[in-house]
Amino acid sequence: MVIVRHEQAKDRAAIRRIHRSAFGRPAEARLVDELRKAGRTISFVAEQDGAVVGHILFSPIQVESVPVLALAPMAVMPKFQRRGIGSQLVRAGIEECRKGKHRAIVVVGHPEYYPRFGFRPARSRGILSPFPVKDGAFMVLELAPGPPLRGLVAYPPAFRGI
Ligand SMILES: CC(C)(COP(=O)(O)OP(=O)(O)OC[C@H]1O[C@@H](n2cnc3c(N)ncnc32)[C@H](O)[C@@H]1OP(=O)(O)O)[C@@H](O)C(=O)NCCC(=O)NCCS
Repeated sequence: MVIVRHEQAKDRAAIRRIHRSAFGRPAEARLVDELRKAGRTISFVAEQDGAVVGHILFSPIQVESVPVLALAPMAVMPKFQRRGIGSQLVRAGIEECRKGKHRAIVVVGHPEYYPRFGFRPARSRGILSPFPVKDGAFMVLELAPGPPLRGLVAYPPAFRGI
């Protein structure tokens, strides 16, 4: 059975392993550690039979001066992929962001994956990435009404090199 729950301190080593295995490099595992240190993150893990096999992180960023959240990174251990675990993590994360009255979530990711959760291309709404991204990979999910979201997204320095 899969359980999705908030990250706890004891999960940190497993979370690093998941990102290193799923992305095949250490950059995303480091990003998680840096963003956690910076604070105000929303972090969920997926546990299968007591083992932590998936992780998703949301952290504060801005669209111009409007605070929103970045969904990044997320990963599921390769041998547990394509069983719906990633989807459970995304749905639990979105729900938590909604509860927290966050304005929107921005993601850079697979254009075939995130639209099923309501994400839409950000560029066509006037939200611009500060770095080059493939068409359709830069997406936004608006959660609550608020000030218009337009302009450049500002990522914290931890994202450099990702
Ligand atoms: C992306 C990821 C988190 C999805 O987790 P998951 O548990 O496999 O996701 P789910 O089982 O809920 O959904 C599976 C669906 O995701 C999509 N998907 C999974 N990996 C994908 C990929 N690399 N590219 C495009 N679509 C992908 C497929 O459409 C798949 O559906 P299918 O089984 O009908 O083909 C996982 O594949 C992963 O860790 N990948 C490597 C790291 C990564 O790319 N992270 C996301 C960065 S945006």
